[in-house]
Amino acid sequence: LPYFLGALLGGYLLGSIPFGLLLTRLTGAGDLRKIGSGNIGATNVLRTGRKGIAALTLLGDAGKGAVAVLIAAHWGPDMVVFAALGAFLGHLFPVWLKFRGGKGVATYLGILIAVAWPGALVFAVVWLAVAFLTRYSSLAALTATVAAVIFLFFFARLQWAELFLVLTALSWAKHWRNIARLASGTESKIGAAS
Ligand code: G3P
Repeated sequence: LPYFLGALLGGYLLGSIPFGLLLTRLTGAGDLRKIGSGNIGATNVLRTGRKGIAALTLLGDAGKGAVAVLIAAHWGPDMVVFAALGAFLGHLFPVWLKFRGGKGVATYLGILIAVAWPGALVFAVVWLAVAFLTRYSSLAALTATVAAVIFLFFFARLQWAELFLVLTALSWAKHWRNIARLASGTESKIGAAS
């Protein structure tokens, strides 16, 4: 098996662990895909009213991205790119859920923390500011991913900027329903039930 394929596949397997779905099921909070937006991420776990489970989902989904990067880092930056891409694709398109996964925001953050932590700081500040001002988790994520990419193009190696440009485009594509709801004024706010 060529190394890059191993990194891609290993990352994919890690990334495809759906922490939100597993944690809500294990704690008896129901099937996440039938709640709120139907998404498997921490924002939707919050709609079950279980803040602790939402926090654990964020930790798990971010953690798997960070772990994929930290393992691959032993083989150099090129392997990090493949492992990160694999983990992200695993979260977005997990084989276990018929390829219907999440939108990648937490996993994006986890990868960013491990690859270029100052970029994660920019991401976190922008996410928190937009979420605080608008109460839209999706809008916060859409803005924070773009801010992070711009930051990386100026202050990190080009390879990282290019990687996160791809992750941002993938996450934006997965947010298309949110974007439509934001445009029509029907997007749900953080903490609201639907
Ligand atoms: O992290 C995903 C977030 O940006 C949107 O989640 O459940 O509101 O579609 P949701």
